[in-house]
Amino acid sequence: MKYARLGVNIDHVATLRQQRGEFYPEIRRAAEVALAAGAHQITIHLREDRRHIQDSDVPKTHEICKKFGLPLNLEMGCSDEMIDIAASHSPDWVCLVPEKRQERTTEGGLDVLDKNNFERIKKACENLKKKTPLTKISLFVEASEDVLKKCLLLQADAVEIHTGEYAKDFLDGKDISQHLVAYRRGREIIKAASWGYHAGHGLTFDSLEPLLAEKQFEEYNIGHWIIAEALFIGLGHVVKEMCTLVKKYPIEE
Ligand code: PXP
Repeated sequence: MKYARLGVNIDHVATLRQQRGEFYPEIRRAAEVALAAGAHQITIHLREDRRHIQDSDVPKTHEICKKFGLPLNLEMGCSDEMIDIAASHSPDWVCLVPEKRQERTTEGGLDVLDKNNFERIKKACENLKKKTPLTKISLFVEASEDVLKKCLLLQADAVEIHTGEYAKDFLDGKDISQHLVAYRRGREIIKAASWGYHAGHGLTFDSLEPLLAEKQFEEYNIGHWIIAEALFIGLGHVVKEMCTLVKKYPIEE
């Protein structure tokens, strides 16, 4: 039996820490609790403005992931600064994301259809592959056919579909069927190239279930909701409950 993987994004543990400039809550402890509870990966986003995760959190988180023999997924923009940071730590995965300073969170996927942007992303992928060849690359994008076909021209290993709009429509009680159709079509395109098909952004326990039932994605990266729910029932419990949900829907028998 094969199940989808759950990547726990612990950025907002750092948000709470940065709010007071203290050393707690500790990133290392969050990673340890999440992995001990069954998470398959830890995800952190080192933003250009360092609003939550700091440079020193990268090796600390990586050390915990190595202890568990599980992957670290580093989300980052396509800048040379970020590529050098990734090269010095060689995380298992880098997820390239678009980044705007003023945004509250990552709004939308990489714009691979814009010629200049495509060249910038292409260069980022090439540099990453040159400087840290064992690191796999995923591209955070919208589930549009044009976008996904363009992604396949890049030196990467997976796409992570931006599920923000889907998650919002789900929470607002709107029809989600058009999102599911796009995700199915996206999978055909991506799996034909034997790439990984991941998803993330805005997902909650409830909005995750229809995606699991579809058996489309191999990996989900979830952060804000997990950390918010952890305030009430504890991080270990939230992760365990999500892992139990994931196990209800094997992706392969
Ligand atoms: N995946 C990517 C690429 C992201 O940028 C984010 C947000 O940092 C997430 C997943 C997690 O999103 P959320 O915190 O809304 O669960």
